[in-house]
Amino acid sequence: MSMIVVKDLAKSFGTNHAVAGVSFQVAEGEAYGLLGPNGAGKSTTINLVLGLLGMDGGTVTVGGQDLSRNSAAVKRMVGFVPQEIALYPSLSARENLVFWGRMYGLGGERLHQSIARALETVGLADRAKERIETYSGGMKRRINIAAALLHEPKLLIMDEPTVGIDPQSRNHILETVKGLNARGMTIIYTSHYMEEVEFLCTRVGIIDHGKIIAEGTLDELRRIIGHRSRIRLRLSSNGHRVLERLRAIKEVEKVEEAAGEIVITTANPAGVLPAVTAECTENARIQSVALEEPNLEAVFLHLTGRALRD
Ligand SMILES: Nc1ncnc2c1ncn2[C@@H]1O[C@H](COP(=O)(O)OP(=O)(O)O)[C@@H](O)[C@H]1O
Ligand SMILES: [Mg+2]
Repeated sequence: MSMIVVKDLAKSFGTNHAVAGVSFQVAEGEAYGLLGPNGAGKSTTINLVLGLLGMDGGTVTVGGQDLSRNSAAVKRMVGFVPQEIALYPSLSARENLVFWGRMYGLGGERLHQSIARALETVGLADRAKERIETYSGGMKRRINIAAALLHEPKLLIMDEPTVGIDPQSRNHILETVKGLNARGMTIIYTSHYMEEVEFLCTRVGIIDHGKIIAEGTLDELRRIIGHRSRIRLRLSSNGHRVLERLRAIKEVEKVEEAAGEIVITTANPAGVLPAVTAECTENARIQSVALEEPNLEAVFLHLTGRALRD
């Protein structure tokens, strides 16, 4: 069953069509990634889905409830981790969570249990009495996630929750989200980091200029670029002869030279590698070899002609 159905969502700011007809569905228990560069329309889409921003057109249905008709029911089912941190610096982590819990209508023993569980989930139970202003950026993000979990949402929507934090907190957050999803929570995760989306998500929508330009499982998206891998080689000396001989190897599709590097495109990297190294070592010394599997960055580049991070 679909946890959420988003249809023809539209929002303009003046003449800027920030969201220009976005549709997607996320099944119960799925982790869906919304991947796109800065300014693509991810946050606007999410804010429309949450009813935080009025839409120009479209419909959002969560757990069978229409957002425009029954926004209270939708809000009960959804937890939201915003891109901007929404915490009071002078209060402790626990006090912040009490505040957020009350906002969700929780109180008494239920609230205390929810807070304990959420702190456990984000791994900050032992730091809960400390003031937020003493926390690192990554710890603040984790408390933000805890706040979104208090009312036990069915659907957790996260908007770039790892931007600008240390790698350790980032890994912690990714593992936490993976764990929540493994326990059945439906996830929508926006990011401009393709590695995060590849790690977490079973299905991905690639968004650019307010439109979803491709959607599918990771495998389906990689198929757009034909499952081709690249072998990058650096040799002590390159010659045209080497390039010609590499091009003659069976299953090598393309050989290019750029910035002193030889880039070989192939659908069978393991199969061609022995022949490639044999050809190279005949005339030169191999300084480095790197294998690039097809990834979402390559898919984005293929579709738009631009890099995700530019
Ligand atoms: N409140 C706003 N007022 C005017 N323009 C906005 C507003 N919010 C976003 N935009 C514009 O809408 C586009 C999409 O922005 P956003 O949804 O924040 O992208 P993303 O989250 O993918 O980086 C951008 O061109 C941005 O400048
Ligand atoms: Mg954003």
